[in-house]
Amino acid sequence: MEDLTTMEKKFAEARVLITGGLGFIGSNLARRLNRLGADITVVDSLLPDYGGNRYNVEGIADRIQVNISDVRDTHSLRSLVQGKDYLFNLAGQTSHLDSMRNPMPDLEINCQAQLSILETCRAHNPRIKIVFASTRQIYGRPDHLPVGESHRLNPVDVNGINKMAGEKYHLLYNDVYGIPATALRLTNTIGPRMRIKDARQTFVGLWVRQLLEGKPIEVWGGKQLRDFTDVEDAVDAFLMAATNPSTNGQVYNLGGPEVIDLISVAKLMVEVNGHGEYAIRDFPAERRAIDIGDYYADFSKIRGELGWAPKRSLRETIASTLRYFRDSMPHYL
Ligand SMILES: NC(=O)c1ccc[n+]([C@@H]2O[C@H](COP(=O)([O-])OP(=O)(O)OC[C@H]3O[C@@H](n4cnc5c(N)ncnc54)[C@H](O)[C@@H]3O)[C@@H](O)[C@H]2O)c1
Repeated sequence: MEDLTTMEKKFAEARVLITGGLGFIGSNLARRLNRLGADITVVDSLLPDYGGNRYNVEGIADRIQVNISDVRDTHSLRSLVQGKDYLFNLAGQTSHLDSMRNPMPDLEINCQAQLSILETCRAHNPRIKIVFASTRQIYGRPDHLPVGESHRLNPVDVNGINKMAGEKYHLLYNDVYGIPATALRLTNTIGPRMRIKDARQTFVGLWVRQLLEGKPIEVWGGKQLRDFTDVEDAVDAFLMAATNPSTNGQVYNLGGPEVIDLISVAKLMVEVNGHGEYAIRDFPAERRAIDIGDYYADFSKIRGELGWAPKRSLRETIASTLRYFRDSMPHYL
């Protein structure tokens, strides 16, 4: 097992493409890879309802190539994947509710475009290593906890179904065409540069906004158990999966350092902020219908095989997130 520093050295001068690279996780990944000396291209559509934001690459924008295009556009994909060593495939529609209200864009982006990306790799760069951002949403309501990778897949919304298909396409292209691909099933990931305008990406984003604007955090229900991954820990996992050939064709859960109910998360946020309040509200009916109840991951597979484990406590993650948005909030509203 390689340590993180040895592994990170492999990215010096590596040619990397990040789809969704102006988004929350993609931009944090780009920033880390930039520090490691990689040659980085990000592609992002910057559609306003999603998490893409030019400010996310503030300070590194002149050292990376930023390509504003849509992964649904198969023509632009060819030149983007050619000559790259790694593809971090994070472009996605992330809102569960939007996927129910307006299912077609979710189908096009999370399902159809994934197949186009893979077809482009097959035709023009079959040796590229791909790490796909999958999600715990594909498990649906857990039958048991913690949820390991062998738990049945039973998504409760359109987003989960399309992400499941997107993941399966990657594994299929790995198995049938030998295009090396790994899927990481992310749980709630939080940190600097997440979307805080609304709850489209994560309710925690909206909570950060409410707290910093001096409004009560609105907690729906509140007893649900969750785990949270710090975005820097998620970035570690993407880099480890990319550089380790034993991950080809595999899926791995990411998880968090602790399991916590949502009321306790709200309390912790108020405490770390130093002031603020929260209010418990009934679950809106539209959300209740697609809620998954309690969830937390068993991430022993990636810990055992790659030595990945979350290193940042939830308190630290909340502190770094609030610190970031105290200075930068106007760029995110
Ligand atoms: N944040 C989480 O908690 C979480 C959890 C599970 C899975 N994921 C997955 O991780 C990936 C990244 O999520 P994120 O939280 O950074 O969200 P995000 O919305 O910030 O990032 C996604 C990016 O993809 C871009 N994008 C969307 N459609 C596109 C298209 N058609 N063409 C080009 N770019 C497009 C968006 O503009 C955005 O910048 C997503 O695929 C998501 O499903 C995230």
